[in-house]
Amino acid sequence: MKFRTPEGTRDIPPAQAEVAERWRNTALWQSLEAKVRDCFARFGYEEIRTPIFELTELFHKSSGETSDIVEKEMFSFKGRGEKAESFSLRPELTPGTIRAVLEDSLLEKKSFWKLWYMGPAFRGEAPQAGRFRQFTQLGVEAVGSADPLIDAETMILFAEILKSAGVAAWELRINSIGCGACRGGYREALRAAVTPELPKYCDNCRRRVERNVFRILDCKVPDCVALSSRLPSAIDHTCAACRGHMEAVEGALKGAGTPYKVDPRIVRGLDYYTRTVFEFSSSSLGAQNALCGGGRYDTLVRDMGGPDVGSVGFAAGVERILLAMEQGAAAKPPDFFAVAIRPELRAPLFEAVNRLRRTGLSGDMDFEGRSVKSQFRQANRSGARYALVLGPEEAAQGKVKIKNMLKEGEERAVSLDEAAAVLREGVRS
Ligand code: HAM
Repeated sequence: MKFRTPEGTRDIPPAQAEVAERWRNTALWQSLEAKVRDCFARFGYEEIRTPIFELTELFHKSSGETSDIVEKEMFSFKGRGEKAESFSLRPELTPGTIRAVLEDSLLEKKSFWKLWYMGPAFRGEAPQAGRFRQFTQLGVEAVGSADPLIDAETMILFAEILKSAGVAAWELRINSIGCGACRGGYREALRAAVTPELPKYCDNCRRRVERNVFRILDCKVPDCVALSSRLPSAIDHTCAACRGHMEAVEGALKGAGTPYKVDPRIVRGLDYYTRTVFEFSSSSLGAQNALCGGGRYDTLVRDMGGPDVGSVGFAAGVERILLAMEQGAAAKPPDFFAVAIRPELRAPLFEAVNRLRRTGLSGDMDFEGRSVKSQFRQANRSGARYALVLGPEEAAQGKVKIKNMLKEGEERAVSLDEAAAVLREGVRS
């Protein structure tokens, strides 16, 4: 029997010359991850890591009981032992991050944290191009500030990530969905507008409208989308404080030269948002064109038992960023590739390779008993700048031969220490 990856999941193998899906290669992932880490550090964010599964209840309380993610997409399972609690693979990382902030009493040590994360998330959606059941989210949570400048900073940061990744075709749309003070009025306005049209909505909308009328706005059924486009929008019902907040966010984005559009139709599919919400999308992706989603959540920390502080964050799908990237990335070649002229010289060559590695150089040798010709071919293919050759003559003199693969005919016998110095010099130049 042949085994396959579970539906909606993908392996990421090492870089290869000819591949159908260019994003599935660990060299590309590593190069993106390094750039992303650099951006986070430059903006003053610190890394947080949390478990990939949490109590199911955590997602009910935060992402929202009636959200698609919680209602339809969670992978849940019973824990072991007497309690047999229900756990779920995390469909998003915000709830676990806030749980960790509170559990580790971070806000008692410092009132404001700028945190970043990168790791797998799981949603049982119907797989399609750019939509997976296991995918990778990178994101930030700025916890403990109501300052509109930090809303803008998260968006400027993600634009910077896209720039360093080489994604040029992107669009940022922002909206304000109001706060506790104005959301009640909007809820009533929405309910009044929806009620006479309710029979025209899908079963799901009709069922959810009682518990959470806002969910109607993120239904993807085409008829519902058409009906919703005529409904009042949240931004027209925001209070003066929310309008002031939005103006400050827009001012900061303009000041930073980050292009954006106000889109009253942006509603997020999760319950915790207040005020600012935003989405980055890319025209170089297909139907699943959302690169990143985020927004402010000023009541979640309090609702989860913490202090009454504002927060804002975003998460982006790493696979989608990779799909939208214009440039590929090749694996970094080793500094040298070692060749044994005779089989009995493989053991001393192995020793030499390891001594050179201990000096910080990267190198490899053949482990399949190949012919000399084939070892040289391997050295060529590895992209190494130098071949390190051990023949009977060099072995008798306690030396190795180094051969510059980029310059025909340049080779000499040297001691291993000299070889290390030459290789280091060559690699640096
Ligand atoms: P979200 O919009 O649900 O927000 O997801 C963020 C991003 O994750 C999406 O824009 C998309 O790029 C990626 N994504 C989501 N589902 C899939 C999937 N099935 N396959 C591939 N990529 C996917 C959140 O998760 C919030 N926690 C964001 C946030 C953080 N808000 C505040 N802080």
